[in-house]
Amino acid sequence: MTQDELKQAVARAALQYVVDDAVIGVGSGSTANYFIDELGARAGRIRGAVASSERTAERLRRHGIPLVDLNEVDALPVYIDGADEVTAGGAMIKGGGGALTREKIVAAVSRRFVCIADESKLVTVLGAFPLPVEVIPMARAHVAREIVRLGGEPRQRADFLTDNGNAVLDVRGLAITDPAALEERLNNIVGVVTNGLFARRGADVVLLGTPAGVQTMVRTDSAP
Ligand code: A5P
Repeated sequence: MTQDELKQAVARAALQYVVDDAVIGVGSGSTANYFIDELGARAGRIRGAVASSERTAERLRRHGIPLVDLNEVDALPVYIDGADEVTAGGAMIKGGGGALTREKIVAAVSRRFVCIADESKLVTVLGAFPLPVEVIPMARAHVAREIVRLGGEPRQRADFLTDNGNAVLDVRGLAITDPAALEERLNNIVGVVTNGLFARRGADVVLLGTPAGVQTMVRTDSAP
C-alpha cells in the first residue's frame, strides 16, 4: 500500500468516531484532507464543523459542510487531525503545515482527540521532525536566541506566514524526552504564540494506518 492509501484508510476508519447531529473539529494536512473527503460524502450526519485552518475551511465549504465559529460552541465531542510525529502514548509534534495554533485551540475545546496517521509517523521519542514554533514577528530573533539557550537550532520557515499572520521557527536538535515539560517551557518564552508539541493535551485515540490494517491505540487515562 502507498502512504496515501494508508492515510485514506485511517481517514475512513475515523468516521466511526463522528458523533451524529453534532459539530465536529477538523484538523489540517493531507490526512485530514482525506477525512474531510470521507465526511463530505456523509455531510448530512453532522451539524457542522470547526476548521483548524483556512485551507480546511475551504475544503469543508467545497463539500457543503457548514462552518461553525468556535466561539459559538461550548465544547466539541470530537476533534480529528493528523500529526507529524506521534508516540504510542498520544504525544505529538504538529504544525508541519503551519496550522498549529488553531489546531491547538480546537483540540483544547474538544472532549476527544482522534489522531489519524500512517505508520511512518509513529516514534518512540519525538524530535526527528523539526518542531514548529509560531512566533509574533517582532519577537522572532528573541525567541530564536532563547531556543538556542535550550539547545535547539531554530530556522525561520522561508516565505511563510501562518493564518494568524505570524512567523514559524522550525527547531531541530532538541532532546524531547519530556514533551509536556518542554511544551510548557517553550510556551513561557515571551513572543511564542504556540509550539507544535501536543503533549499536555495529546491524542486520546491514535489510528495508525499499516499495510496489515488500521491499528487503534487508546490512551488508558483518557476520558471515555
Ligand atoms: C498541520 O499544521 C499539521 O499539524 C498536520 O496535522 C500535520 O503536519 C500532518 O500532516 P499530514 O497529514 O499532511 O502528514
